[in-house]
Amino acid sequence: MDHEEVGRYWNENAAVWTRLARAGYDVYRDYLNTPAFFEMLPEISGLTGLDIGCGEGHNTRLLARRGAHVTAIDISEVFIQYAQQSEQQEPLGIDYRVASAVELPFGDAAFDFAGGFMSFMDIPETERVLAEAYRVLKPGGFLQFSIEHPCFATPHRRNLRNPAGQTYAIEVGDYFRNLRGEIAEWIFGAAPKDVRAGLRRFQTPRFTRTVSQWLNLLLDTGFVLERLAEPRPNDKTVKECPDLQDAQVVAYFLHIRARRPKE
Ligand SMILES: C[S@@+](CC[C@H](N)C(=O)[O-])C[C@H]1O[C@@H](n2cnc3c(N)ncnc32)[C@H](O)[C@@H]1O
Repeated sequence: MDHEEVGRYWNENAAVWTRLARAGYDVYRDYLNTPAFFEMLPEISGLTGLDIGCGEGHNTRLLARRGAHVTAIDISEVFIQYAQQSEQQEPLGIDYRVASAVELPFGDAAFDFAGGFMSFMDIPETERVLAEAYRVLKPGGFLQFSIEHPCFATPHRRNLRNPAGQTYAIEVGDYFRNLRGEIAEWIFGAAPKDVRAGLRRFQTPRFTRTVSQWLNLLLDTGFVLERLAEPRPNDKTVKECPDLQDAQVVAYFLHIRARRPKE
């Protein structure tokens, strides 16, 4: 499966995804991933940035609100339509375009930074995505992205729960088997049953790499690793959003910042 076929799956997911995410049901994003990503992000005010795989633009808008001049791309035209509608309703100066991370429609050294919120693990041609991000960054610029944690979002995974329904362990397996487009069917579990009823479940092609594969790809591209994070919700967050309790047991997400060296 190549990036274009993957893009067609995401385009089919885009309408329901946008509706549920905008209604507040993408809770791992809102309560955990996005706050952690922005906590790790360097100062971006006044910088030019590119959001790669922006979806409906939630995190892109947060980048723009931090004072960056943001361009954003996604392979799904439906997601980009939703993002552009938001831009019309509340202009933040964001330039949204339909494009693939594998072939970025920008010149060399066009951006001070690039970001990818939970999008890089969805693209089979990881080498090309990283090479393209590197190419469009100015020397000295940085790339920061989040992915599902390779150690805990393995091909085999099962939550082990105690009688009270609390997760106490995650069973993982097949870590070394690189998935190559197997389809996962799911929907945001935080959405109540009546909201989910009748909605088309997402179909997301899955691609997995081990930790060393990810890090070595970055190093082979020429990036210098700068910072890593494995967000964990604190007790206060779990009280506010009990769905996140399982993310206290293992790291569900891995955040990476890497820099294109100065020439
Ligand atoms: C899990 S969603 C994340 C969306 C958004 N970044 C967020 O945080 O809400 C993954 C996104 O990657 C996009 N995507 C998948 N393959 C892509 C590609 N080759 N180029 C650009 N975007 C891609 C999908 O269309 C989807 O919007």
